[in-house]
Amino acid sequence: DGVTVIDHPLVQHKLTIMRNKETSTASFRRLLREISTLLCYEVTRHLDLTTMRIETPLVEMDSPILEGKKLVFASILRAGNGLLEGMLDLVPAARVAHIGVYRDHETLMPVEYYFKAPEDLANRLVIVVDPMLATGNSAIAAMDQLKKRGASNIRFLCLLAAPEGIERFRAAHPDIPIFTASIDSHLNEQGYIVPGLGDAGDRMYG
Ligand code: PRP
Repeated sequence: DGVTVIDHPLVQHKLTIMRNKETSTASFRRLLREISTLLCYEVTRHLDLTTMRIETPLVEMDSPILEGKKLVFASILRAGNGLLEGMLDLVPAARVAHIGVYRDHETLMPVEYYFKAPEDLANRLVIVVDPMLATGNSAIAAMDQLKKRGASNIRFLCLLAAPEGIERFRAAHPDIPIFTASIDSHLNEQGYIVPGLGDAGDRMYG
């Protein structure tokens, strides 16, 4: 149904430490970076390959390489940057988009304050990253902006998703697959994911 839960044991193990409120800012940041490389591995698992003619020290061969233009990683600020770093460790040639959205603490509506992306989004796979999909409002707004600028091949990668957010996101953008390390129980009255891990941006940056 367009939602993939990345249940790799290392991902689940690291996620447990991140959820623990005793985990320090320094550890949280390091874990987010580590976990993002594992998530990146899974979200890129089915990318198309082509071949390239090369010479090994022994013979010529046609060897697999990624097909098409360089990937774009789009980070939803601020907390998306925690995932972005580990993604770039694995795909250092990727292009990067920054999308500034925060949610108003009372209305939970998205407030958009920044958008900067490579010009040629149309012919690239865009992988949007944000640790949390809560109401879904921020991610939906980010996808709206990317589509307005021509992106048509998009994936969304997060760490935690609430069922409410998944439902709203899928209704707004049924063409965009979601990858997450966990589908949590529900949203509380303040719009926090339960059990969750608190506010990812605050735990990383204070
Ligand atoms: C958090 C999170 C998502 C958003 C999810 O960001 O990183 O962007 O909330 O909530 P939603 O699905 O209900 O929109 P926040 O607004 O705390 O901004 P920050 O990362 O800059 O702190």
